[in-house]
Amino acid sequence: MAGAISSVARNRVAADSTLIVEDITASAARHHAYAGHETVLLGRDDERGLTAIIAIHSTRLGPAIGGTRIWAHPHFDDALADVLRLSEGMTHKAAVAGLPHGGGKAVIIANPKRQKTTELFDAYAEMLGLVAERYFTAEDVGLTLADADYLKARTPNVLGTTRGGSKNPSPVTAFGVFLGIKSSVRHRLGKESVDGLTVAVQGLGAVGVEVARLLVDEGARLIVSDIDPERVDRAVKAWGARLAEPDDILAMEADVLAPCALGGGLNAQSIPMVRAQIVAGAANNQLATVADAERLAEAGILYAPDYVINAGGLLNVAGELASGGYDRDRVFSSVRAIPETLATIFRRAEEERTSTEAIARVITRERLSMADGTGRPG
Ligand code: NAI
Repeated sequence: MAGAISSVARNRVAADSTLIVEDITASAARHHAYAGHETVLLGRDDERGLTAIIAIHSTRLGPAIGGTRIWAHPHFDDALADVLRLSEGMTHKAAVAGLPHGGGKAVIIANPKRQKTTELFDAYAEMLGLVAERYFTAEDVGLTLADADYLKARTPNVLGTTRGGSKNPSPVTAFGVFLGIKSSVRHRLGKESVDGLTVAVQGLGAVGVEVARLLVDEGARLIVSDIDPERVDRAVKAWGARLAEPDDILAMEADVLAPCALGGGLNAQSIPMVRAQIVAGAANNQLATVADAERLAEAGILYAPDYVINAGGLLNVAGELASGGYDRDRVFSSVRAIPETLATIFRRAEEERTSTEAIARVITRERLSMADGTGRPG
């Protein structure tokens, strides 16, 4: 299949199109972020202002899923690194969630505030159409639901749209994160509830605020921080949450730290400041490097791997591809498996004296090796 795409994709997509798509898998294989990706396509359309990369990391378990990010990367190499790293991450997320899907990701190199045009999206939809069977995209940084709707009207491989799609994933993600926090609490503190525990929530956006609400409903005490003072104000007024400055939240005296803002916050400098026994939250890429998982383990902090606990958003869009179509109740049922997956990871990490992150990667490898390569788990 990859061969067929390569031959289609080497040149101008159609005689009357200005889009030129090149299969750059062979040159991407020399990049430091390359990890056995199946297909990497570069699309260019000078007339319509498109430069985009689609990276399909793996379709071993089934068609790849991953959002399209619009970002004005200053150098092509940065964009390539981003898309290679993120698409590989999606393979891990889908595999550990038990989905019949692989990982992919796309980056449109443009400024999302100034360079988004219908012409650019027309060209991008043509490019997506080339991999319609192997890669499904969705919203991401810079690509809004309205943009996804526009693309969906032009190519079938777009998920999470408002018209007939799975809509807002944040409540689903938040529910999974809440259950994941409870699973972590059960494992580390031996408690069945968060009642009476203190949780420090970093970031009160779409997911964070919903996680906070679920925690308060079960009797947790909150410490909150957000760079947007209005969001913090609302939490303080509604729930009597304690306020922490953004720079201080990681070091607060709490049972659980729930990072729900941006990634990269846990690193060699910040980890020694963490006082919570558990780190479990929604943010993607919470660890600056893989070595930080070891640092957390050595510090005796139980870490719920981010792509395991926040898989609700992916489970939600993948629900659109399930047989019988999207069913919100069925998606919520699949989210209820997240705590069990985490419990297995926690147990194995202890038995094998390694980090939870390392075990999550082992589980990915196990699931991939069990598949027969036709998209059906063996
Ligand atoms: P959002 O943009 O709605 O919320 C992020 C919040 O973090 C905002 O309120 C922002 O002001 C705040 N923030 C930014 N920097 C901060 C800092 N230094 N300290 C404290 N607060 C800060 O984003 P959303 O959708 O709630 O996502 C949160 C995280 O969860 C992101 O990392 C996202 O990638 C991840 N995620 C979200 C999913 C979803 O379904 N929305 C699915 C899976 C992961």
